[in-house]
Parts: sequence; structure tokens; C-alpha cells
Amino acid sequence: MNKNISLVIPTYKEKDNIQPLVTRLSEALAGYKYEIVIMDDNSGDGTEELVNSLSEKYPVKIVVRRDKKGLASAVVDGFGHAESDIIIVMDADLQPPPEVVPSLVKAINEGADIAIGSRYVEGGGCEGWSALRRIMSKGAALISHLFLPSTRKIKDPMSGFFVIKRDVVKEADLNPSGFKILLEILMLGKWESAVEVPFMFVTRSRGESKLNAKQQLDYLKHIYSLMQRTGELVRFIKFCIVGGSGVIVNLGLYTLLTRYGGFTPIDDTSAGILSGNIALTISIETSIITNFILNNFFTFSDRNTGGIVSFFKRLLNFNLICVVGALIQIGVTNLFAVVFGFYDILSVLIGIVIAFLWNYLLNNFLTWKK
Ligand code: GDD
Ligand code: MN
Repeated sequence: MNKNISLVIPTYKEKDNIQPLVTRLSEALAGYKYEIVIMDDNSGDGTEELVNSLSEKYPVKIVVRRDKKGLASAVVDGFGHAESDIIIVMDADLQPPPEVVPSLVKAINEGADIAIGSRYVEGGGCEGWSALRRIMSKGAALISHLFLPSTRKIKDPMSGFFVIKRDVVKEADLNPSGFKILLEILMLGKWESAVEVPFMFVTRSRGESKLNAKQQLDYLKHIYSLMQRTGELVRFIKFCIVGGSGVIVNLGLYTLLTRYGGFTPIDDTSAGILSGNIALTISIETSIITNFILNNFFTFSDRNTGGIVSFFKRLLNFNLICVVGALIQIGVTNLFAVVFGFYDILSVLIGIVIAFLWNYLLNNFLTWKK
């Protein structure tokens, strides 16, 4: 059978939404050849019977999984039941308006691999969201941008409303937990161009949201699991190893210079202050350079692009970021030790962790841009 587009719609206890969903889709998609694949997790609320009766009049079918495995995994299973090469994923509860579907499909027909219904581009939004929910959602997007590089260009990587070409997921080994299927596709799918189409995420008028605190915790686990599966975690560990080697270079060189190299160890004499700090500065800068070289060819070898000019641009970038990192470390340590009265060694440690994260994230973002 040749359908032009398949809609994969996960459901759990959405019976009251099914009829309006199917009728609104049939109006919005008049003129298209389409099928609706409802992926239900054994709701037991009559959804199955209702869809089966609607299937006499509309191109809709239902797949019921007897054990509930969650939204994102229902969508992945749905790809296997969908017949066409353009696949639309959307919620059943009419929060994403069916009328927006044609503009997403149009973006695909114009060449995009992925078209995302986006709340965070001009013209999009969320109806009736509290400030808190808005902040949480933006925070979640920020976490994804920081830790998952392929999501960075997308303003709304949390969206559950998008269209893909089948080729994007054909060979991808998708294994999502929780709610955020798009993250999984952006990180593991094969795609080059993604566009965001604005839409208004409207208030639910029937049934209840299944998003709860557990889903929010699962989100963090999902990010971690994606970091693991895409090598981003290994990258972070490599950065830690390089950082450790930098400490050895820094300490080792300082010791060499002040014990055997004619520099005076730092103390309260004027020679100690002047000569000792010159030795320290040389040691710090040397360790920044060795760290840079190791990160360039080891941690970020896959993003080590361009010729000698971009090499030196990166070196300069790295240097600036690390110097700011050092200032942050000093600031944070003093904040905890002096202002909050924490134990000094603990304060130094907190300073190191924060400066380290700063160095990692900023360099990941700016120096070795993806
Ligand atoms: N098969 C299946 N299994 N479907 C599920 C499950 C499940 O365990 N849990 C939820 N669903 C279905 C719902 O029935 C609905 O059609 C859709 O997935 C979205 O669930 P909601 O409970 O309405 O989620 P939401 O509105 O809070 O979140 C949605 O919008 C967010 C954008 O703010 C989801 O699409 C999120 O992924 C998205 O980020
Ligand atoms: Mn919803």
C-alpha cells in the first residue's frame, strides 16, 4: 500500500481525544494520502474499540502494546508499523493543533530532513503556561544544548511534534526512555537539515497529562544515556584525563624551575614574589598549551578541522576560556571560604569543579564547535 504520509500517535488513556483528533486530521489533511497509526499502551479505556470503529471511515489503525513501555518507545515501535517515507509524530491530546501538520510536511517537501513544530521560534508559544513551567522547559532545553551537541541548533529539542523522512531513523539504533523522542532522533538519526516551524502548544481540554516528576527525572537519565551512547561521556572523561595531566605539568614545571632552574620559590621576599610568580606563570601557561594540544588531538579529534589558522584561533580561544576559568575558580573558592565560611579545602574543591565544568562546556561550545 502506498501512503504518502504516516502519523504515529502515542496514546495512553486518551479515549475522549481520539474522535476529535481523527476528524480534525482528516480535515487538515484533505488532499493528502495518509494513515494514522495509534500506538496505545494498553489504556483499557475503550480506545481500542473506538479506533477500530473509526477505521471503517478513516485511514486509522491501532497497535496495542500489552505492557506499557512509555511514550518515546511507543513512537519508535510505531515507525515499524508506519508504511510511508514521511513520518509525523504528534500527541493525541490536541495540544499540538492538527492544522499545523501541512506546514511541517511542506518543510520536508522543500528539502528538510526533519521539520520540528517549535514553541520557541518567533510565532510559537505555550498557551496558559505558568512562569515556573516555562522556566523548567527552558532549563531542560539548556541542559540538552550543553550536553548534547547535535541539539544545539534546535531551539525546541523537547518538542513532541515533528516530521521526519524515514531515512533519518532507518539505521538508527533508537532506544529511548521517557518522553523525549526527538532528542534521541537528533542525536542518533542521520540528518543534515532541520527546520523549526512555529506553533502554539494549546491547553489540554480533555483527559490528563501524563508528565510527572518521574518523567522529569527520567529526562536527566535520558540525557546521560544519550551521552553514553554517542561518545559524549567518553569525551568528558578524556577532558578530565587531560586536565589531570595539566596539573602534573603545572606542578612539575614549577618545581623544576624553582628547584633546578634558578627561579626563587614563591615566598614573602621580593625575589620570591617576583621570580616565583614568573615561574608559576610560565608553568600555568605551559600546562594550558599542553592541555590544548592534547584536547585538540585526543578529546576533540573529531572536531579538529581547518588549517593552521584555525588551530591558533582555537588555541587563543582555549587560553581565554581557561584564564576566565581560573578567575572563576578563585572567585568561587573565596565566596565559599570567606563569605559562606566553608572549610578551605572544600572551598578549593568546589572552585575546581565549577571552573572545570566552565572550561569543559565553554570549550566544547566555542573552541571545538560542532
Ligand atoms: N503509548 C504511550 N505510552 N503513550 C503515552 C504514554 C505512554 O506511556 N504516556 C503519554 N503518552 C501519550 C499521551 O497519551 C499523549 O498523546 C502524548 O503521549 C503526550 O502525553 P502528555 O501527557 O499529554 O504529555 P505532555 O503534554 O505533558 O508533554 C508533551 O508535550 C511536551 C511539550 O511540552 C510531550 O510530547 C513531551 O514529549 C513534550 O516535550
Ligand atoms: Mn499533552
